[in-house]
Amino acid sequence: MLGLLVAISAVACFESSYADAVSITNVTAPYRGSWVMIWNTWWDPTWVNRVEIGCEYTISPAPATPPTITWLKGSFTDRQVIYKLTSSGEVYVHPEYAGRVSVPSRTHPTLVLTDSKFDDWGRYWCRVTNEEQSDDFGTDEESRLFWFKSGYDPARGSHYSFVQVDKTPVRVKTGGTAKLHCEGWGGKSASIVWFKGPSCTQDGNCNVYEMVINKTAVEHFSPDPGTVNVSPNYAGRASLGANNMGYTLDLTITDIRPADVGRYWCTNDWPLYFRNEVQSRDSQSVVVLLDDEAPSCDGKADGMYQDPGDCSRYYTCSGGWLYGPVPCISGLFFNEALQVCDWPNNVACV
Ligand SMILES: *[C@@H]1O[C@H](CO)[C@@H](O)[C@H](O)[C@H]1NC(C)=O
Ligand SMILES: *[C@@H]1O[C@H](CO)[C@@H](O)[C@H](O)[C@H]1NC(C)=O
Repeated sequence: MLGLLVAISAVACFESSYADAVSITNVTAPYRGSWVMIWNTWWDPTWVNRVEIGCEYTISPAPATPPTITWLKGSFTDRQVIYKLTSSGEVYVHPEYAGRVSVPSRTHPTLVLTDSKFDDWGRYWCRVTNEEQSDDFGTDEESRLFWFKSGYDPARGSHYSFVQVDKTPVRVKTGGTAKLHCEGWGGKSASIVWFKGPSCTQDGNCNVYEMVINKTAVEHFSPDPGTVNVSPNYAGRASLGANNMGYTLDLTITDIRPADVGRYWCTNDWPLYFRNEVQSRDSQSVVVLLDDEAPSCDGKADGMYQDPGDCSRYYTCSGGWLYGPVPCISGLFFNEALQVCDWPNNVACV
């Protein structure tokens, strides 16, 4: 009997540690909601033509091999590599940036741009790739805008896209529902696309992002809500959120399968008249993990619930969204009947 119990708990342990077996890369571009701006005052002898575009990252658990650092320029779906530092220390610089870009630190891979020019104007992406985690858990990136300003230029306005994703990894049971939260500018008039990836093709192109769901851009005052397309892999399972202003960028995927595990990118392009400009199509990502011990709000009323994996923690369901789990004060267990943290002998803990 004891042997059977040990065997069962070993299996349960293996299942719950599946989600912990992957190493997740998390990239942060500080101040990414605002421009890095340089004013062209070449006539001023004290003018310093140099900017820094910051980038920070964590890889958890940390790999033994240093990650590859890549800086790209352009919109999320149309970019070129301007700088690359490989795991083995090789550096590539795009000819247009020769002698003008450097990344002094691999652990804080800020891009230093000197002798900047008007054509440097645009969106810069910091991508960090953990070469030991070859799937999409190992690659994350975020962007920041650079504006080389030399007076008013109506053709290059200050409009741009911006999205904000809740990057906390989403743990879902097989067959459960993943709800991914994303906010973005432009509301119903924006072009919204969620991608999954990146993955590599056989010829070694590791820049492949699969379209999950998209919505066309529409004029702001148009009654047309836009057209939504869903990839065949997510047919009948993926949907965008909705509110009284039209669509929101939140993505819901039902009936989660092992193939759905990976990294999802919320992207948006706005406003309509600057679509496909170099500053548009921002993106931020969140990973979805399979975890059969994960707490879930599927079919649950709003309220607080004991974490099935740990009685000393609770999570909150509100409108189908899950918040937490968060721990009780040390030594207490969560009592669902009373909706409070309580003494362990008052709480059923299974
Ligand atoms: C990612 O890193 C940022 C900045 O260090 C941190 O605030 C955030 O909590 C991290 N997110 C995850 C999911 O690890
Ligand atoms: C949206 O999806 C459709 C169907 O896959 C595709 O033809 C179209 O190019 C996509 N549009 C965008 C903006 O991704």
